[in-house]
Amino acid sequence: MQIFRTPREMQDFVRESRRAGKTIGFVPTMGAFHAGHLSLMRRAASENDVAVVSLFVNPTQFNEAADLAAYPRDEAADARLAESAGIQVMYAPDASAMYPPGFATTVSVAGVSEVLEGATRGPGHFQGVATVVAKLLNAVACDRVYLGQKDAQQVAVLHRMIRDLDFDVDVVVCATVREPDGLAMSSRNARLRGDDRTRALALRHGLDAALGEIARGERAMERVQMAGLRAMHEKGVDPEYFAIVDPTSFMPLARLNGDVLIAVAARVGPVRLIDNELVHVS
Ligand code: PAF
Repeated sequence: MQIFRTPREMQDFVRESRRAGKTIGFVPTMGAFHAGHLSLMRRAASENDVAVVSLFVNPTQFNEAADLAAYPRDEAADARLAESAGIQVMYAPDASAMYPPGFATTVSVAGVSEVLEGATRGPGHFQGVATVVAKLLNAVACDRVYLGQKDAQQVAVLHRMIRDLDFDVDVVVCATVREPDGLAMSSRNARLRGDDRTRALALRHGLDAALGEIARGERAMERVQMAGLRAMHEKGVDPEYFAIVDPTSFMPLARLNGDVLIAVAARVGPVRLIDNELVHVS
């Protein structure tokens, strides 16, 4: 596997690959690979001639210094895992290559990035994500970018940015990979200990309760939301939000019809977790 450290090295490789008529699939990550990342990489490798993963812990999208400091980093282990998942190239730039002195440009996506995660984590979060992904897409210039449904709002923000700024790339959204008991895979799960690991299942219980209400025919958003909140409180967790929104705009829905996203975020012990379910309601 080749490792590139600067945008120029990455762009030179992509130019040569394109000249040779190869398609490129790209998985942007911050490392600490788990089964969720590996499923995105396997899919990118199976659908393209060349599969590229980026590994960059992007400081500008963290709203808490402690979260950034605690973010797990092990590039050598990540490189081995990426190679085993069929990745040929890892793009792992240093912060100085991404944000050289004088860096002054940001990408901000209005509307969809201002609610839920955007409101809780502050306006800098999605601005940091959109800016770094715009830079990564300019460096990797792929045919397809692979994103995980677990970060549903990130997917919606990046879809909007890609459309608005005319990036010539298809977005492939891949299903959330879960632990056997239903907990969504996350690099942060490793910091859940003892009772917190059990309480983390409250997010899954809340989503299941809301899905159950919908399956029983309930279409009033507030009743479905109440069912989710009750189920989470029974498991001892009070979420930061339990929202039922349009999956593209992230605006709340009063009555459920068509594509509906149920999104939840909660702090469990030292860790902030998110999860969601996308459901088609008829
Ligand atoms: O989802 C992530 O790991 C990050 O937000 C991303 C898309 C790699 C941008 O830093």
